[in-house]
Amino acid sequence: MIERILPGRVVAYETFTDPPDAVLLPEEEPLVRGAVPARRDEFRTGRHCARRALAGLGFAERPLLRGSKGDPLWPETVAGSITHCAGYRAAAVALTEDIVSLGIDAEPNQALPGGVLEAVALPEEQVRIEELLRGHPGVRWDRLLFSAKECIYKTWYPITRRPLGFEEATVDIDPVGGGFTARLADRSVRGVPGAPRELTGRWTAGDGLVLAAIVRPAGH
Ligand SMILES: CC(C)(COP(=O)(O)OP(=O)(O)OC[C@H]1O[C@@H](n2cnc3c(N)ncnc32)[C@H](O)[C@@H]1OP(=O)(O)O)[C@@H](O)C(=O)NCCC(=O)NCCS
Repeated sequence: MIERILPGRVVAYETFTDPPDAVLLPEEEPLVRGAVPARRDEFRTGRHCARRALAGLGFAERPLLRGSKGDPLWPETVAGSITHCAGYRAAAVALTEDIVSLGIDAEPNQALPGGVLEAVALPEEQVRIEELLRGHPGVRWDRLLFSAKECIYKTWYPITRRPLGFEEATVDIDPVGGGFTARLADRSVRGVPGAPRELTGRWTAGDGLVLAAIVRPAGH
């Protein structure tokens, strides 16, 4: 499903279960020691997806440790992203000579809990989401906006190593063409080497999920 919204130079692997052969390598065990079973499952299957995707780029099996902000530590020449939600896990990777950074995110195609849209969306985004919910039923546009913003952060962080608040990106979703664009606030990008002013992504919905992906090609 995720491949629908990724270009050919990105290798992805997804699963709708936690297969028994999705196991952590010994070096990764401490990262979820003491975690509840649900967290262990999403983590081990996310790592499994990442290893399968990396194999598609020709990388041998290796531990994938974690940076100080939760970011997966990919091989030096790789950009990648991991996502998991109930019933879905995926990873996507590409060579940095092609892709500077990428972000993928999966969410259930269900309304955000009360108060969350107001917390993650700017006033103009809230107005647009209400319009979309009225005019295009079937997709929970509030959840998709949230997913797009998670993707933005996952793409942004490996480039800038900086936090990014939900109010620092304005997202415009195309309900028909399957794309979205994000404008980053001037104050967020000013003086930050490589920080993108704009990011473009793609989205899809199906099987009870909404998925979003951003791929930032090299050369920007
Ligand atoms: C990190 C975050 C984006 C994860 O998104 P999520 O929808 O909660 O969860 P997902 O399952 O889709 O993704 C989790 C994976 O994201 C990845 N991740 C975590 N921190 C990351 C970071 N700083 N940079 C890149 N990827 C990161 C990890 O691989 C993690 O899975 P793992 O711990 O099993 O390895 C989210 O929890 C968060 O902190 N958001 C706040 C920042 C933000 O979104 N700002 C909005 C900007 S417009």
